Amino acid sequence: MIEQNQNLQLNRAAWLHKANSPLEVGEAPLPTAGPNELVIRNVAVAINPLDCHMQQAGVFVQQWPAIFGCDVAGQVYEVGSEVHGRFKKGDRVIGHAINLVSGRPQDGAYALYTVVPVDKAAILPDAIPFTEGVVVPFALEAAVCTLSLKQPGTAMPGVATPALGLPYPSLEPAPSSKTLVVYGGSSSVGSMTTQLATAAGIKVISIASARNFELCRSCGAVQVFDYHNPSFVEKVAEAVAETGEEFVGIFDAVSTPETYTNDLAILAKLGGGHLACVHPPPDNVPGNVKAGMIFAVDDVATPVWRDYVTPALQAGKLKCLPPPTIVGKGLEHIQEALKRCEAGVSATKLVVEV
Ligand SMILES: NC(=O)c1ccc[n+]([C@@H]2O[C@H](COP(=O)([O-])OP(=O)(O)OC[C@H]3O[C@@H](n4cnc5c(N)ncnc54)[C@H](OP(=O)(O)O)[C@@H]3O)[C@@H](O)[C@H]2O)c1
Repeated sequence: MIEQNQNLQLNRAAWLHKANSPLEVGEAPLPTAGPNELVIRNVAVAINPLDCHMQQAGVFVQQWPAIFGCDVAGQVYEVGSEVHGRFKKGDRVIGHAINLVSGRPQDGAYALYTVVPVDKAAILPDAIPFTEGVVVPFALEAAVCTLSLKQPGTAMPGVATPALGLPYPSLEPAPSSKTLVVYGGSSSVGSMTTQLATAAGIKVISIASARNFELCRSCGAVQVFDYHNPSFVEKVAEAVAETGEEFVGIFDAVSTPETYTNDLAILAKLGGGHLACVHPPPDNVPGNVKAGMIFAVDDVATPVWRDYVTPALQAGKLKCLPPPTIVGKGLEHIQEALKRCEAGVSATKLVVEV
């Protein structure tokens, strides 16, 4: 009992007590690492649109009160008994917290200490600040799930995941003759998918606001088109056709009725292809379109976490983009950051130092 009380004093978290209520910062049990887990002492956490949905509607919450949030960067505090060699106490790391699937409060990012599976963590090179590294984890996993699943799985009841079956990113990508369109290239998930596809040898043609063309290019996009231009659908289709390469399809990182109309128009001009969405895909897609919705927690990402993330960050081949906007320091600032995320961001990821 004494030990439990001492532990309670060590950890703090931003708790959600019920849907559509503000987060409340308070004490939390200090988590312990399971055999294949790390406990991370967080230095920075990042905000994702999903977190806003979780707070507002309580979606994915399995246990109340809840601690949620997906992105952490910090130092390893405890290493699980089966984690042999890859991590030690004190290492600087980034990690993808999976409260989304486990429902356990200790797996939520919005705390001083968070449990992360060892296969969803990587060493953060010393030269990269925690506030930059923390933009990577959830977007990285979403990008791998978009690009590299070979067989469709289940994103939600009745909705299949896309299965583009593209290669994993590599430090020395083999050239391929494939082209992918990324719609929403300046978003967190869109820019990371552009980076990983480029590092798999795929040509990316991106769609974003003109002010964010440079960001898309720095992620590897070979061409970028402004969705405010009334003829961008035709221009994107022409650009894909002009590559003369195999058209894989579209990753739609926005996934609204408006973007779906444009996706289907582009796909119609190019003879069909994959349509990978971040929300349930449109109904009644033509037979030559393979539509699915990604689900961004999947073991398909393990080899990327294990073999690619750290050396690619070290070599500058994986960039911490879009750049962070630091909202404040302290768990109390997470609520404010969620409000800002809900209002919408452009080419940035909201980050809170804890
Ligand atoms: N299913 C899953 O597993 C999963 C996983 C992760 C994320 N998601 C979902 O994916 C979506 C994106 O997440 P995120 O974190 O990447 O979002 P984000 O970074 O917050 O998205 C902001 C970006 O969206 C772009 N955008 C907005 N409307 C656009 C449009 N009509 N056309 C092109 N770009 C547009 C903006 O581009 P400009 O400023 O250039 O205009 C802005 O840079 C969210 O809805 C999220 O919930 C789903």
